[in-house]
Amino acid sequence: MRFVFLGLPGAGKGTQARILSERLDIPQISTGDILREHVQEGTRLGIEARTYMDRGEYVPDDVVVRMVEERLGEPDASKGFILDGFPRTVRQAQALEVALVELGTPLTAVVKFTISDTTAIRRIIGRYTCPVCKRTYHQEWRPPANDQLCDVDGTPLEKRSDEDELTVKRRLAIYREQTEPLERYYAERGLLRDVDAEARMDTVTERMLAALGDAV
Ligand code: AP5
Repeated sequence: MRFVFLGLPGAGKGTQARILSERLDIPQISTGDILREHVQEGTRLGIEARTYMDRGEYVPDDVVVRMVEERLGEPDASKGFILDGFPRTVRQAQALEVALVELGTPLTAVVKFTISDTTAIRRIIGRYTCPVCKRTYHQEWRPPANDQLCDVDGTPLEKRSDEDELTVKRRLAIYREQTEPLERYYAERGLLRDVDAEARMDTVTERMLAALGDAV
């Protein structure tokens, strides 16, 4: 089972990918999380990536593609994976297609989570993330049990550096320009499944499972 999750920033890709990953016991591979780990550790890749991420822009294709190719080569990805936030450009999608042909493991489905810009902004402005386990919370819709601490490991929750309203609006515009063309790319290959993500988290999970049908 090999899935790609598409959708505006804040659409709930990470939230739903975590649920499906636990259900199917396959890894959630989030390029955003991997890049943020590099930034946190101060690696060369992280120092380069940060300049793009803080502005809400995409990290160059070749950097991200190399990173994903390496991750897909790890043993846990051999039984399947959920790519959360990758590919984001047609060049990335083409590189992924080539890599998967070489591995003999084509994609099973591409899920596109649809929300409005207004919802995207509200979800991101209110989000808090655990820097250790990467779980996300929302001040309105999924508050932690203890004020500002992760329910799972007790770590103080953080805001990301790309969550102010201006940067979010920039990320939405970049998605429209660079990532939206992927919807057609995957529709033409018969892989695209659309999920209306303007609903409670558990309803969105039900819709995602229904859209995936026999694939899960
Ligand atoms: P990345 O981390 O991938 O960010 P994103 O795609 O912009 O998506 P988000 O993580 O912001 O949102 P999400 O859809 O996962 O929503 P979530 O589940 O958290 O990328 C960050 C940056 O890294 C990029 O801008 C770029 O610079 C770089 N990058 C990453 N990948 C790259 C690539 N392939 N190429 C180039 N550059 C790349 O939910 C959001 C909030 O809403 C949470 O608080 C959650 O609790 C809440 N929520 C979720 N679902 C619901 C619901 N149904 N109802 C109410 N609240 C909900």
